[in-house]
Amino acid sequence: MSYELDIMGIRKEFPILTQEVYGKPLIYLDNAATTQKPLPVLRKIEEVYSTINANIHRGVHRLSQLATESHEEARRTVQHFINAQHPHEIIFTRGTTEAINLVASSFCRSKCKAGDEIILTAMEHHANIVPWQLQRDICGIEIKVAPITDNSEIRLEDIEELISSKTKLIALTHVSNVLGTVNPIDAVIRLAHNYNIPVLIDAAQSVQHFDIDVQALDCDFLVFSGHKMYAPVGIGVLYGKESFLDALPPYQGGGEMIQHVSFEKTIFNSLPFKFEAGTPDYVGSTTLGEAIRYIKSKGLDNIRQYEEHLLYYATVKLEAIEGLQIIGQARNKSSILSFVVDQIHPYDMGMLLDHLGIALRTGHHCAQPLLDALGFESVLRASFAFYNTEEEIDALAEGIEKVRKMF
Ligand SMILES: Cc1ncc(COP(=O)(O)O)c(C=O)c1O
Repeated sequence: MSYELDIMGIRKEFPILTQEVYGKPLIYLDNAATTQKPLPVLRKIEEVYSTINANIHRGVHRLSQLATESHEEARRTVQHFINAQHPHEIIFTRGTTEAINLVASSFCRSKCKAGDEIILTAMEHHANIVPWQLQRDICGIEIKVAPITDNSEIRLEDIEELISSKTKLIALTHVSNVLGTVNPIDAVIRLAHNYNIPVLIDAAQSVQHFDIDVQALDCDFLVFSGHKMYAPVGIGVLYGKESFLDALPPYQGGGEMIQHVSFEKTIFNSLPFKFEAGTPDYVGSTTLGEAIRYIKSKGLDNIRQYEEHLLYYATVKLEAIEGLQIIGQARNKSSILSFVVDQIHPYDMGMLLDHLGIALRTGHHCAQPLLDALGFESVLRASFAFYNTEEEIDALAEGIEKVRKMF
């Protein structure tokens, strides 16, 4: 099968992929945890620090103006990437986790009282569970959890059954980081809006694979992390509809987020600065902008098509291995493949594969409630990016067979 992408050319743009681990070529299949960084992104970090580095928004001098422009241009790049209506609907955060904490804190403080309800699903990452529990302890909200089917999918009727007059928000992941399930977020948003309930989408595992249009989706909040989409760690995004962000109180206090401060009273800054206390990560934002340009230059459609092929190829290969069970049977899956093998502990399998140069993730994947419900303490996960190849998947399958024969 031929694809639009020149995979061998793309691999050359990721210097880390040429490494050897324990004398074997590195096979990096842990992309759902974090992706590797292409040369344009690495060069951008160096360029910012060596040409325009200065604290932003407050300097009259040239460098500060250039750094400020760079940060604000990155905001517009993100805006266009997800088709937000306004640049000030893009709030830079440290990542998905901080973005959800921001919404949970500001939303619950201003819009919830004891007994009000938030709906989550059984396949959420801890980042979309624990912030709500913290708020539950502070303001007495209740958390309701939509179950998943034996096919690793959510059902609209299960969510609808949980909706009550006390439901204040539905927060769910677009793609499960364990099951790979792609949730029908458009249908969930439509359902929620029928009841006037806003929706937060955790796009940590989707924004690097699919075209996301927040206006077409009509979603109220959407969050994601730069480091899972070829940008550096430490930068992420909260998108929120202007009307919501305007109405929410700030999350953190400090410089940047204020208009005027006296010891008696503080007048907060306007959007987006109200939610960006302290010196913003202008290097992170600028390089996130570069990562988005990089992704766009390859084409999200091309990326998705090729990654779908890798998932299919890997599923067929791994299914053929005796004693291997794939976790995650959804009809619509992203390029995440979790599995267990016979009686072999995932940690042992992961360690032995590592010695063959193959980087997989093992453990509970920050989704302990999901793993508990599935009856596992730990599973292995291979997750593919568009720089992975069929040959690497062949090596994974051979590696698993090799380890299996050792036990
Ligand atoms: C679905 C999902 N949500 C949230 C997160 C948290 O992302 P971060 O640690 O970058 O904040 C992850 C990370 O793996 C994830 O997979």
